[in-house]
Amino acid sequence: MNLLIEETLKNRANRSYTEEEQLLIQVGGYVSPTPNLFEDILIAISLKKPILLKGPSGSGKTRLAQSISAMFQQPMQSVNCSVDLDAEALLGFKTIVTKDGQSVIEFVDGPVVTAMKRGHILYIDEINMAKPETLPILHSLLDHRRMLTNPFTGEVIIAHEDFSVVSAINEGYIGTSPMNEALKNRFVSFSIPYLEAEQLRTVLENAVPEAKASIVDTMMNLSEDLSKQAANGLLADEAASVRSLIDALQLAVHMPVDRAVMYAISELLEDKMERDLVNELTATWVK
Ligand SMILES: Nc1ncnc2c1ncn2[C@@H]1O[C@H](COP(=O)(O)OP(=O)(O)O)[C@@H](O)[C@H]1O
Ligand SMILES: [Mg+2]
Repeated sequence: MNLLIEETLKNRANRSYTEEEQLLIQVGGYVSPTPNLFEDILIAISLKKPILLKGPSGSGKTRLAQSISAMFQQPMQSVNCSVDLDAEALLGFKTIVTKDGQSVIEFVDGPVVTAMKRGHILYIDEINMAKPETLPILHSLLDHRRMLTNPFTGEVIIAHEDFSVVSAINEGYIGTSPMNEALKNRFVSFSIPYLEAEQLRTVLENAVPEAKASIVDTMMNLSEDLSKQAANGLLADEAASVRSLIDALQLAVHMPVDRAVMYAISELLEDKMERDLVNELTATWVK
C-alpha cells in the first residue's frame, strides 16, 4: 500500500473514541471500479484535501464515504443538503439550559463544528442542492486555512489534524444546480461510475447472499442491456443504478424477476417509453 496512506492509517487507527463516537464509525465495502480509484482518494484524504465525489444516484458515493470512515476507523458526521439547509443545520444552534438552578444559553455544536473539533470525517451529501448563499460559510475550512469563525458565538475553530471533508454530488440530475465555482475550486474531484461486470457481481452477491446464482445472472444480463441503452440515450442513467439492481435482486428472491424489476427499476422512470423498454428487455431474460 502507498506509504502516505499507511502513515495516515497508523495515526488515525490509533486514536481512541468515546462510545458515542464509535457508533459513528461506518461499515465499509466499497468496491473500486479501477484498482487505483479508492487508493487515489485515500491519498487525497491523507493530504487533507477536501474531496468531491461526482456520479449518478446509486453509484456508491455514500458507500465510498463510509468506506473511508471504516478504513481509518474514524467517526463520520453527515449533512444532507437541501434548499432549506441553513447555517444552524451546519454549525449548530443556541439553546437554553438550566445549570445550578440558573437558565443559561448554551451553543450545541452541529456536525461541521463537531467534526472540526473532534477530527471526524464530514460527509456533505448532495452539496449542489444547497442554496448558493448557504455554503460560503464553509469556504475558510475547505481551503488551506482549515478554520472557521462561528458567526453565532464568535468562536474561532481550528480544525483537528484528522478532520476530513468528503462531499458528494449527483451529476446531471434534474433539479440540481451546477456547483458554484468558488466552492468547487476548493475540492479535489473524482468521478464515480456505476460498476460493471465482475465487480458488479461481487457487490450484488455481497448485498443479497441469499439470491440464487441464476437470478444474479439474470440481473447481470439485464444490467448490461440497461447500461447499453442508457449509453445510447434511450434510458435515463439511473435505470442502471447499482442501488436499483440490488433492490430488484432482493425482491426477486421472493417473486418473479419481471415483477421485481418492474417495481425496483421501471416504475421509477418518468417516461412511459423508457418503462416499456425496461420491461421488454427484462422479458428477453425471463423464461
Ligand atoms: N462500487 C460499489 N461498491 C460497493 N457497493 C456499491 C457500489 N456501488 C453501489 N453500491 C451499493 O449500491 C447501493 C447504493 O449506493 P450508495 O452509496 O447509496 O449510492 P449513492 O450515494 O451514489 O447514491 C448501496 O447498497 C451500495 O452499497
Ligand atoms: Mg448517497
